[in-house]
Amino acid sequence: MSEQGVKGRREGDGRPPRVTVPGLRQRKQRGQKIVMVTAYDTPSALLAERAGVDSILVGDSVGTTMLGYDTTVPVTLEEILHHLRAVRRGVQRTLLIADLPFGTYQDGPSQALHSAFRLMKEGGAHAVKVEGGAARVETVSKLTAAGIPVMGHLGLTPQSVYLFGGHRTQGKSAEDAQQMLEDAQALEAAGAFGVVLETIPAALAAQISQALAIPTIGIGAGLDCDGQVQVWHDLLGLYPEQMFHHAKRYAEIGVLIENALREYSEEVRQSRFPTKEHSL
Ligand code: KIV
Repeated sequence: MSEQGVKGRREGDGRPPRVTVPGLRQRKQRGQKIVMVTAYDTPSALLAERAGVDSILVGDSVGTTMLGYDTTVPVTLEEILHHLRAVRRGVQRTLLIADLPFGTYQDGPSQALHSAFRLMKEGGAHAVKVEGGAARVETVSKLTAAGIPVMGHLGLTPQSVYLFGGHRTQGKSAEDAQQMLEDAQALEAAGAFGVVLETIPAALAAQISQALAIPTIGIGAGLDCDGQVQVWHDLLGLYPEQMFHHAKRYAEIGVLIENALREYSEEVRQSRFPTKEHSL
């Protein structure tokens, strides 16, 4: 799907309108839930778009879902760019957000600007996401001033997994909860257009969602967020043995694929494939 094709779209051409950054805020104002899913390649992007999701996140979860890393820490900007371009080619109306990976923005606004420009110019992202609260305020403000829409990410921010000592629920103490609320408000004041809330108590997520005018997108943060995001592989069962408390399995694609490959193997070994039908 070329940029050209997207440029040629007009309102009222019969196709659903493109989802935009201001459009997400309007959804919150109207009380419409926002649907976000991660994706990392063209076929997944095409399917997500056809299913009508509002936004695709090319998350740094690509490291653990697609690249075999144990955490998101090793993911590079080049790796995100590679997957982002593939997703971009499958997207026409869906809002496309890309993660800034670990080590590509924490040094400050100028490093973040350089990385975010690459995600938008070379990868076709419509917006970027950064992890962290108060420490990210200056960066969010500078990116926004440069015309780059930024989504924040609070709670269990996986790039800080070694600081947390594991993938643990965040914001459980009153003090931590208050800090997270203040971080969310600071991100909003700095210009963030939304905030992901990951693995925090549902009551805290509800409180933050109420306090902000910008939408909150939850993962393991309860029903009262303004939208939900799920990781492609968790939602669809690509790793059958991996079950996360925050994820619901809507399909068992991993099992389907394995069974299909077993059947194919058997048919090849027994000379039952290809048949005449599949031969010239
Ligand atoms: O990388 C990712 O997939 C994410 C989501 C879990 C929010 O950051």
